[in-house]
Amino acid sequence: MERSSRIEGFYRLDMAERLRLAKEFGQLTDDEAKALAGAGGLDPKIADKMVENCIGCMPVPLGIATNFLINGKDYLVPMAIEEPSVIAAASNAARMARPKGGFWTSSSAPIMIGQIQLTGVKDPSKTKHIILEKRAEILALANEQDPMLIKVGGGAKDLDVRVIQTLKGPNVIVHLHVDVRDAMGANAVNTMAEAVAPVIERMTGGKVYLRILSNLAVHRLARARAIWGKEEIGGEDVVDGIVEAYVFAEADPFRCATHNKGIMNGIDAVMLATGNDTRAIEAGAHAYAAMKGGYKPLTTFEKTHEGDLAGTIELPMAVGLIGGATKVHPTARACIRLLGVKGASELGEVAAAVGLAQNFAALRALATVGIQKGHMSLHAKNIAASAGCPPEMVDEVVRIMISEKKVRMDRAQELVAEMRRKGGSG
Ligand code: MEV
Repeated sequence: MERSSRIEGFYRLDMAERLRLAKEFGQLTDDEAKALAGAGGLDPKIADKMVENCIGCMPVPLGIATNFLINGKDYLVPMAIEEPSVIAAASNAARMARPKGGFWTSSSAPIMIGQIQLTGVKDPSKTKHIILEKRAEILALANEQDPMLIKVGGGAKDLDVRVIQTLKGPNVIVHLHVDVRDAMGANAVNTMAEAVAPVIERMTGGKVYLRILSNLAVHRLARARAIWGKEEIGGEDVVDGIVEAYVFAEADPFRCATHNKGIMNGIDAVMLATGNDTRAIEAGAHAYAAMKGGYKPLTTFEKTHEGDLAGTIELPMAVGLIGGATKVHPTARACIRLLGVKGASELGEVAAAVGLAQNFAALRALATVGIQKGHMSLHAKNIAASAGCPPEMVDEVVRIMISEKKVRMDRAQELVAEMRRKGGSG
């Protein structure tokens, strides 16, 4: 079946109809569709096995970003997020990228780093070389820890050794480079790092303290790029405005933090929906952004010769499809099925494309009408709901608050009271 994620007016449908279309698009089973619906499919009994002292679940809204065309393939992208406007913005940005072919992506091999901190060595450079001479032995020991990973083509592939200066003198830091295939990799890498640590101590006479994965996954990068045609996005002025917004972020860490936050709005939402570790992705993204001679944007924007806008993104993407919540959480599993991704790298690339789309949408709004216009209607809906507005009155309360430019809880409460008096509702 030809599947297109370009579904006009998706946002105007009711929830049941949106779910029906998603089910059809992803060829989901009834159970999978059920896991996406309502407050989600996490049984408290499963939740109780996921974390300690569990008392319940904390559902967040799950939406679908439409219009994503990535490497010529259509995706409906599940996004779990509490913030209004994010999903609409991603969908709009993806729609505007389609005429020029959508997004093109790539990634490096799924190599994670395991760090082993060796202290108390008298001759750090000599120690570094001793460890490097024992490379094969250390890698073999690391690989004994995870036969399954080796079977699927992963495992510890290499190591490097760094000498760093700390407040307490030099440390020799061993980096194990582990191909984790479709896992996020923390468990495999930590087990390997712990296993080789005593051997490294014996080889060097030093003392190992930390043995842990690094979230700065510089060898596991996802990239995406897109072209937005100038006519599509409002003209050459808009292209210029977006480039101005980008160079502002490039020059100023205060702006850059917000620029990158906008990117992570999209990426985190995909990560949460698919049961991935959002904190790991955040840590990797911001640390990577800080590696470029200052804290810098994860995206770039430039004006092409034709006057269109070219955008790119590159960031570490430690995502998994096996293990953890991605496997045990029924909603996460259904979201992965809906995406139809074949491997963790593909999921990482989709997330990178969403991050780029999200950033484009934010910069376009900021460089033109400002961000509040788009935010206001959903924000007003939130205010109306928090003010106890019954569902049948929400649209009218929102309309009045926006027209009066008084999107406030007290005004929403007044309007609900007035409407109840007039209509006798409730
Ligand atoms: C809000 O969640 C995100 C933005 O502030 C991002 C940005 O300023 O680029 C709109």
